[in-house]
Amino acid sequence: MREDVKPKVVSLFAGCGGLDLGFINAGYDIVWANDFFPEAVDTYKKNIGDHIVLGDITKIPSSEIPNNFDVLLAGFPCQGFSIANKKRSMEDERNFLYKEMLRIVKDKKPKVFVAENVKGILSIEKGKVIEMILNDFKKLGYTVDYKLINSADYGVPQQRERVIIMGNRLGLKNEFPKQTHINTTNNKQSTLVSNKLKPHVTVKEVVGHLNDLWISYDTQKHKSKKIHNHIARVNVHDKFWGRKHPVNQHEICDYLKYWRNKEGISTKKVDEHFGYKHTAGHWFRKDNNSGSIPNPDDWWKLKKLLGFDDKFDKKVTELELKEIKFEQSLRINNWDSPSDTITATGPEIHPNKKRRMSVRECAIIQTFPDDFVFTGSLGNMYKQIGNAVPVLLGEKIGKVIKTKLLK
Ligand SMILES: C[S@@+](CC[C@H](N)C(=O)[O-])C[C@H]1O[C@@H](n2cnc3c(N)ncnc32)[C@H](O)[C@@H]1O
Repeated sequence: MREDVKPKVVSLFAGCGGLDLGFINAGYDIVWANDFFPEAVDTYKKNIGDHIVLGDITKIPSSEIPNNFDVLLAGFPCQGFSIANKKRSMEDERNFLYKEMLRIVKDKKPKVFVAENVKGILSIEKGKVIEMILNDFKKLGYTVDYKLINSADYGVPQQRERVIIMGNRLGLKNEFPKQTHINTTNNKQSTLVSNKLKPHVTVKEVVGHLNDLWISYDTQKHKSKKIHNHIARVNVHDKFWGRKHPVNQHEICDYLKYWRNKEGISTKKVDEHFGYKHTAGHWFRKDNNSGSIPNPDDWWKLKKLLGFDDKFDKKVTELELKEIKFEQSLRINNWDSPSDTITATGPEIHPNKKRRMSVRECAIIQTFPDDFVFTGSLGNMYKQIGNAVPVLLGEKIGKVIKTKLLK
């Protein structure tokens, strides 16, 4: 392909456009994109372009998608596959959204495709899901590979492990970007030098300058630079209702198990009684590591069901207002290393402010540029960012495909 010709891209499940922006930065032209999340589509339009179509991909016929593009991108939804989602299985219908990607690969035959998903995809149904996906694409004549990539190793200030699936119908070996950064606490200086690797980028390096800037919905100025979306959830409390008395989790779980067995009630029945799954699994530990103490309401409900005595009532149900020890739990604890994964739900609490990490701070950690402005409610902005592929990683994937596959 000639240097000045931009390869054409169609992007499914484009969200607010993290992966797409990465590809644009690598010299691609996105000709068509789609998502059904209105706020994300709004953000995409404002920052990237009007070529995104709002709608459910399962309802869009292939005839409405352009022909003759080079690369298909598809960050197909990960909820169904996520290890955070205990219900994940082959039955979860979201798992089958990759079939939409398969349909478009079949109908349009792009030279290359790239799909992104969570690490959990490798282990669902003991690896059967990933095998099924790879085989489905191979049957269409593509050479398919995948790689588990941690964004921090590619210069993103964030630990984010994701699976990148790549396929091409050019008879070439799929190529993934080369690692550029490394964790220096576990590796000697000599490893860095010999591999020409740089140290991981830290949270402080990238967002430290926003430390003393007030959060605001309005665009602000910091050292003549415009700061957009430096807005954050402030539901950060110093106190919480905690148990008044020390309680030993194992003791309580064993106790509950004893009464459940005595009553001859299966864990399945307990789940049915409570109306949601996993309650039983949490409370009746099977080993010495798992299990949890029911909250007071659930404790009283369990008491009715299992008929146990009063031995632990006081210990489990009496609560008092307690100080939250931020350092121990909630606050971001890796200010001097890459951030934990930025997720689509609640971001971590700022290390020294009474607020969560701001939308802008999360966006910076996801390597969105400073002039990329998010729209929608606060929760929706966090969601768009947490869903995205880090822009820098997208760019690196785009570059390697351009030089090695579309040459
Ligand atoms: C993991 S996110 C993709 C993020 C994107 N690749 C990026 O880098 O910003 C998955 C996206 O799929 C979208 N989605 C889920 N089901 C969809 C459907 N049936 N039709 C269209 N979009 C869908 C969600 O709204 C979400 O934005």
